[in-house]
Parts: sequence; structure tokens; C-alpha cells
Amino acid sequence: MQSLQQKASEWSGVAPSDAFSIDETNLFETLGGIQPFIDLSTNFYSRVYEDDEEWFRSIFANSRKEDAIQNQYEFFVQRMGGPPLYSQRKGHPALIARHRPFPVTHEAAERWLHHMQQALDSTQSIDPESKTKMMYFFRHTAFFLVAGNEMTNQAQAPCKHAASKSAAVSDD
Ligand code: HEM
Repeated sequence: MQSLQQKASEWSGVAPSDAFSIDETNLFETLGGIQPFIDLSTNFYSRVYEDDEEWFRSIFANSRKEDAIQNQYEFFVQRMGGPPLYSQRKGHPALIARHRPFPVTHEAAERWLHHMQQALDSTQSIDPESKTKMMYFFRHTAFFLVAGNEMTNQAQAPCKHAASKSAAVSDD
């Protein structure tokens, strides 16, 4: 059976070596601190919350935009070599578990990545080489979450191996 990482690579088209090229250098230091991450997440969520595609915008309807921005940039900062701001405030990122309430489908991943590409393109405080590395990481992670979402949903589906033929015997 394919691992989540293998599925993420296959579906995203991003090899693990590219996805984790963010770890070859310290991007937090390269970018000179926290501000570029705040710029990026603000830019990203401004697009998401104004998306013409209602089905995508509505996925974020239960979160305040300011909170979503902070959650995201604190995670990016800690993942890309900066202080562990996210974990100090919220604990382990546990990305698959935290995305469990949301429909993280292939289509949603592509829409998320579309906004992130546009946000990166218009964030001047990030240099082109760092943008390329970040986008590889985002693309791979997005499809890692799609794979995790599918696994979670399968785990919740009734298990056919254990199903009884008798309607009277149910494990619901
Ligand atoms: C694949 C499509 C994705 C969808 C549909 C999606 C959706 C969401 C939604 C609805 C939230 C809640 C907003 C909030 O209150 O913070 C969220 C949170 C978050 N997402 Fe995503 N996301 C996706 C991809 C990603 C990717 C690729 C990353 C990382 C590279 C990521 C990292 C996070 C983080 C760190 C949080 C905050 C979690 C928390 O503290 O509860 N997401 N996402």
C-alpha cells in the first residue's frame, strides 16, 4: 500500500527532494525574519476570503480571517527555520487532524495552491528562489493533506470485512 508521502508525491508531481528543499537553508534567516511570512499569509487569506468560488470560500466560513492568518504564518515561520510560534500557542501542528473538519479534496488543493501562487507572486519581500522552494513544499503538503483526508474518511466508513449479513446485527 502506498504511504501518504508517496501519494503526495504522485498527486502533486513534486519529488520529496524538492518538497523538502526548504530544509537545505534556513528560509527564516534568508528572508530576514517574520514580516515576509505575515505579508504572504495576509495576501493569501485576503484572496481566499474574497474568492469568487463560493464552494471554496465557504470552507473557511467558520474561521476569523485574522486568526487564520496568524495560524498560517506562525506555522510557516516555525516550519521554515524560525521560532516555534505556532506550537508555543497551539501545540503540535498535527496538520491532517486539524484539517479533518474540512473537505480537503483534489479540487480544494488546486484552488488553495492557485491562491498561494498568486499570493507569492505579489509578495515582494520574498526572493524568487525562496518562492520556488516554498511552492514545492506547499504543493506537496497540500496533496499530503488530500491523501490524509481520504485515509481519514475511509477509516470512518463502515468496515465491509466485519459487516454482518443480518440487518439485526449492526455495529453502528
Ligand atoms: C489542500 C487544501 C487546503 C484546505 C482546503 C485548507 C483548509 C484550511 C482551513 C479551512 C483551515 C482553518 C482556518 C483557521 O482557522 O486557521 C486551515 C487551517 C490551517 N491550514 Fe490549511 N488547508 C489546505 C492546505 C494547507 C496547506 C498546504 C498547509 C501547509 C503548508 C496548511 C496549513 C494550515 C495550518 C497551519 C492551519 C491552522 C490549523 C489550526 O491551527 O487549527 N493548509 N486550513
